[in-house]
Amino acid sequence: MKLTIIGAGYVGLVTAVCMAVIGHEICCVEKNQNKLKKLKKGEPTIYEPGLEEMLKEINKENKIIFTDDIKEGVFFSDYIFLCVGTPQGEDGHADLSQVEETVREMSKYIDKYKLIIEKSTVPVNTHKWVERTIKRYIKNKANFEIASNPEFLREGTAINDFLNPDRIVIGINTNKAKKIMEQIYLPFKENNIPIIYTSIPSAEIIKHSSNSFLALKISFINMISDLCEKAGADIEEVANGIGLDSRIGNQFLKAGIGYGGSCFPKDVKAFIRIAEYYGVNFSLLKEVERINKSRIKKIIDLIYNVLWIGKNKTIAVWGLSFKPDTDDIREAPSIKIVKELLEKDVNLKLYDPKAMENFKKVFCENERIKYFKNKYEVLENADVLIILTEWEEFRNIEYSKLKEKMKFPIIIDGRNMFNKKEMQNREIEYYSIGR
Ligand code: UGA
Repeated sequence: MKLTIIGAGYVGLVTAVCMAVIGHEICCVEKNQNKLKKLKKGEPTIYEPGLEEMLKEINKENKIIFTDDIKEGVFFSDYIFLCVGTPQGEDGHADLSQVEETVREMSKYIDKYKLIIEKSTVPVNTHKWVERTIKRYIKNKANFEIASNPEFLREGTAINDFLNPDRIVIGINTNKAKKIMEQIYLPFKENNIPIIYTSIPSAEIIKHSSNSFLALKISFINMISDLCEKAGADIEEVANGIGLDSRIGNQFLKAGIGYGGSCFPKDVKAFIRIAEYYGVNFSLLKEVERINKSRIKKIIDLIYNVLWIGKNKTIAVWGLSFKPDTDDIREAPSIKIVKELLEKDVNLKLYDPKAMENFKKVFCENERIKYFKNKYEVLENADVLIILTEWEEFRNIEYSKLKEKMKFPIIIDGRNMFNKKEMQNREIEYYSIGR
């Protein structure tokens, strides 16, 4: 089938590439000229494992075109996925201006039946606004419908998440729209992946509920980790004991320095606002947010409990991205932690396998920050090493090298990457979360 994807951000680009891989022909509309230039050369605009290779492959087979012309996109296909950004707006509300602008632009060219599929994360009942807007701007009496098909992919594992999802959620109003969506997702049906059809508002709410629930699990386990610390229990043992109950599940029970990224912080906030709009006080989510923010103070306190005075001390940092396998630093705990430490005149030596270029853009030139090309260089003369992202390459440490380079072999592990006993045996002063 021919499909149009509008927006080549994280969700849009992964959707475009994966839809091409399962056999569709894709027109991807992106109006940011810098991004477009890269995409036309076959270069992804984001770092995502496997994406570059797949893009190369589908380019060879001419299964994808990139354009900045929305008219071309609308004429290319009758099935149009909206994947533009919905960033955080004022007061935590989702900023839907990109959705509105895209819909307005697109409407002028709708001349026959089109199915407009929302994939961006939007507040419940956004589809009503999309429908009203198209009706207002459409130039003729062409028929159209809206569907909602939220995306649940995670950065770092986006391709696998897209191609092997736990479920596909599709909100539709008519049988015609259902049949089209069935065709688009036929390869998934053949692989027995559960596809659920719901009303459009339900599909919209499923997306925000999923992200909010996962954020809730993280804040919950972080509170339990505080309790473990005080009561002499071990959060890893407790999380395992809880998670083996299949009603709870063992995922998203990793205690640490809190959730970041472009989704959870924004979506939890937006969901609180959505609930407020409908007269529902979702105070539970406000707590989730509060707990998450307090994780930063927790790690800062831990650092000062170890160092006593920060001024002119040297801290080595491993990991800046909000999670491993991505160069994304949006809402990463590392940004807030580094800011706090800079206020205390600490010297920082930073290393991340992928995210340093993005980090440099936030902190520009700062004489107290130095970036290094590998995980051992940052350790030279460091008073302490803090681990903020659990990149796989941090798991193997040459301890003799670490001891040789650091002033003192002290590790503060914000992601519980290591076994406490093993660290003791290696004579490392080791601090972690909830143990
Ligand atoms: C999240 C959701 O997991 C996806 O299902 C959703 O599609 C996506 O948002 C989105 O709305 O686009 P993502 O933000 O890429 O995906 O990453 P996650 O793996 O969910 O991690 C989010 C944050 O939670 C990270 O900072 C991570 O370190 C933290 N986290 C995760 C924990 O602190 N503990 C855990 O046990 C799991």
